[in-house]
Amino acid sequence: MDNRPIGVMDSGLGGLSVMRIMRQQMPQESLIFVGDQGHFPYGTKSATEIRRFALNIGHFLVRHHVKLMVVACNTATAEALPLLQTKLPIPVIGVVQPGARAAIAANNHQRIGVIATTATTATGIYPRALHQLSPNVTVFPLATQPLVTIVEHRQTGTAKAQQLVDRQLSPLAGKQLDALIMGCTHFPFLQMEFRKTLGSSVALIDPAEETVKQVQDYLRDHKLLAGANRRGRVRLYSTGSAVHLTQGARGWLHDSTLFGHHVELAESKDLE
Ligand code: DGL
Repeated sequence: MDNRPIGVMDSGLGGLSVMRIMRQQMPQESLIFVGDQGHFPYGTKSATEIRRFALNIGHFLVRHHVKLMVVACNTATAEALPLLQTKLPIPVIGVVQPGARAAIAANNHQRIGVIATTATTATGIYPRALHQLSPNVTVFPLATQPLVTIVEHRQTGTAKAQQLVDRQLSPLAGKQLDALIMGCTHFPFLQMEFRKTLGSSVALIDPAEETVKQVQDYLRDHKLLAGANRRGRVRLYSTGSAVHLTQGARGWLHDSTLFGHHVELAESKDLE
């Protein structure tokens, strides 16, 4: 048994879509979340910058004695997961492999769309992961960076959000998709809009579900699960506005007791 917290990171509020499922599936675990609003968005940054930001957060989480780190950001997973796994003395789990697995596992999907940030799309990580798992699938990657901003500004559920989703997803029209991977952790908060644009025949894949399963399996296999009869604590840090994070977390995690704190992260020296 191990009651140390699990660390979770994202560039902004998107990671809360993973936190939400962690709270549901593993309420006994304590969580420390870092939203890097000070550097938001990651999707337009260079690989070097993203690696530096993610590593700084990793070191912060290690100093807070987390037992495992979840990179609840597809962009940071795409650019920095191997680095984090090499540099940090704790297990680090990303969202891309679980997302690809979830898309393939469900119902023999053959035509799979992937919407993600500009940076994630440029790495080609999703098509690679999907083809490794199932060489014959046809993948339609699409960068939809403006959708990240609309979620971060908490404008989901508005007419503006729906119009933007319609416009951003228009290159996928007529592609006869079986499934669409929401390859950015901000996107599950636009699920309603995606449904309206795509209709009910396209399965929406949220990588968070499978990611949380992987975390649970790892903790169980390594005897690191927290005690069953406890309720874990949630600590929230933002490198930007604590108020913004508090509002997002209270709204999306449905818990009015949550409180975000501002944090300045130290610069890590071991990037190379
Ligand atoms: N939520 C992040 C992701 O999953 C990053 C979005 C961004 O900062 O551009 O990719």
